Amino acid sequence: MPKQVELHDLHKHFGKLEVLQGIDLTVERGEVVCVIGPSGSGKSTLLRCVNLLEKPTRGKIVVDDFDLTHRDANLDLARRSIGMVFQQFNLFPHMTVLENVTVAQRKVLKRGAAEAERTALDQLEKVGVAEKAAQYPSKLSGGQQQRVAIARALAMEPDLMLFDEPTSALDPELVGEVLRVMRRLADEGMTMIVVTHEMAFAKEVADRVIFMDGGVIVEQGPPREVLEDPRTDRAKSFLQRVLEV
Ligand SMILES: Nc1ncnc2c1ncn2[C@@H]1O[C@H](COP(=O)(O)OP(=O)(O)O)[C@@H](O)[C@H]1O
Ligand SMILES: [Mg+2]
Repeated sequence: MPKQVELHDLHKHFGKLEVLQGIDLTVERGEVVCVIGPSGSGKSTLLRCVNLLEKPTRGKIVVDDFDLTHRDANLDLARRSIGMVFQQFNLFPHMTVLENVTVAQRKVLKRGAAEAERTALDQLEKVGVAEKAAQYPSKLSGGQQQRVAIARALAMEPDLMLFDEPTSALDPELVGEVLRVMRRLADEGMTMIVVTHEMAFAKEVADRVIFMDGGVIVEQGPPREVLEDPRTDRAKSFLQRVLEV
C-alpha cells in the first residue's frame, strides 16, 4: 500500500512542556487510524501538526510524498489535500450552511459560484443535510452542524481527513448520525486519522488503534488487540477508566 502520511521523530514543545516526545507513525492510503488516550496526552497537538496548524519543534512530516517540514514547502498547497473536523464544528455563524461549504472552494480552489454550489449541495446531500442549505448554523442541531462541517471539508476533495473528537460535543442521541457519516467515508476508502473516545466505533471501523499517553505512542495494533487485550499497564488502566463510565 502506498503511504499517505509519515511522521518521523515528531516533537512539539510549548515552552518547557514537551507535548509530543518523538512520534513515528506511518498511515497507508485508505487506512483508518483511531487515536485514543487520556486528556492532555497530545492527541490534538499530533493532529494539528499533521496539517501544520502547529509547527513541530523537531521531526519530519510527509503527506502524499510531500515534505511539509521542508523549509520551502508550499503549505497552502499541501493543506488543501487535508480536511479537518473539530470537536466544536467551527462553522462560520454569520454564513448560511451553503456559504460555509462554498467559501473555501471559492477562495482557495478559485471555483466559480455555480460549481462551488453544485459541489456543496452534493456533499450536503451525502451527509443528509441538503435541506438545511439556506439556514444559519445556529438553527441546526449539533449533529447537523457537525455533518455540515464534514461536508465542508469533503467539498475540498481531500486525500486525508483528520477528526479531533468529532462527537465529543454532541448530545448522546446525535452521536450516531455523525459516526454513520464517518463510517461511510471510511468504507469509501478515505484515509482517516480519528481522535475519539467512541470505542465501539474504533473497534468496528479502525484498521489500527493507537494509544497515546504523555506525548508518545505507547501501544498500537489492530483494534481488538489494543482495545480488548492491551499489553501495557497504561493502556489497561486507561481503558478500564473509559469503560467504567
Ligand atoms: N497552544 C498551546 N500552548 C501551550 N500548551 C498547549 C497548547 N496546546 C496544547 N497544550 C498543552 O499540551 C498538552 C497536550 O494537549 P493536547 O494535544 O490538546 O492533548 P489531548 O488532545 O490529548 O487532550 C496539554 O498539557 C495542553 O495543555
Ligand atoms: Mg484534544
